[in-house]
Amino acid sequence: MVGESGSGKSTLARAILRLEDADSGAAFWKGQDLLAMSPAALLGVRRQIQMVFQDPTQSLNPRMSVYQLISEGWDIHRLMPDRSERQVRVRQLLEQVGLSPEHASRYPHQFSGGQRQRIAIARALALEPELIICDEAVSALDVSIRAQVIALLDDLRERLGISFLFIAHDTGVVRDFADTVIVMKAGEIVERGPTEQIFSAPSHPYTQRLLAAALDPDPDVQAQRRLLATAQA
Ligand SMILES: Nc1ncnc2c1ncn2[C@@H]1O[C@H](COP(=O)(O)OP(=O)(O)O)[C@@H](O)[C@H]1O
Ligand SMILES: [Mg+2]
Repeated sequence: MVGESGSGKSTLARAILRLEDADSGAAFWKGQDLLAMSPAALLGVRRQIQMVFQDPTQSLNPRMSVYQLISEGWDIHRLMPDRSERQVRVRQLLEQVGLSPEHASRYPHQFSGGQRQRIAIARALALEPELIICDEAVSALDVSIRAQVIALLDDLRERLGISFLFIAHDTGVVRDFADTVIVMKAGEIVERGPTEQIFSAPSHPYTQRLLAAALDPDPDVQAQRRLLATAQA
């Protein structure tokens, strides 16, 4: 999902998870409307859909160890009661996100921004989700770290078959990662389609402006986009 800052991307993600009330509409997950689900049914779905936020300093409780952060969801969902089993699983999850098993006893402040985001990803993976919503999850990271975290997400998608709703104001990041793109503007979806189509032939003027505003490494592509956007404006 792309769209400039303030276009309603986070609000849409939060509405899907019922963290925020939608005034109208529907959000279908496996044929069921999430917005009309009972609280009991919703608890089951909450496990299947996990979220990773932009700022891990805010989303990870600084007083909890990495072990506690990753295993917290098991308490909430009453999973994996066996302590030694949990310890093994936490170590596996840390390895899966490119951290060391020894990191389990440390606290969030002892990590870099990229590592903290890996902890947040491990925390989401602990519940074996089918969908992970990444809300600007790489936006605050330096370019090289960002590429590493995206590669990790890509790898998880390949190996574990997890789907992602990947939210970013940066169109380049979405282009590299997504199969399908939706474009948000002023709280509405204005365009949707396969990534290639959206980026090569955007049909909505807003999408054209959004893409023109982003720099393309290929100057010819960039010039073409600017021309198109100016012609449409
Ligand atoms: N569909 C909508 N209708 C009304 N207000 C909205 C809608 N979507 C978002 N907003 C409001 O717009 C502001 C920015 O939304 P937000 O979701 O944070 O944007 P983004 O994540 O794209 O930067 C918020 O104050 C939010 O409450
Ligand atoms: Mg947002």
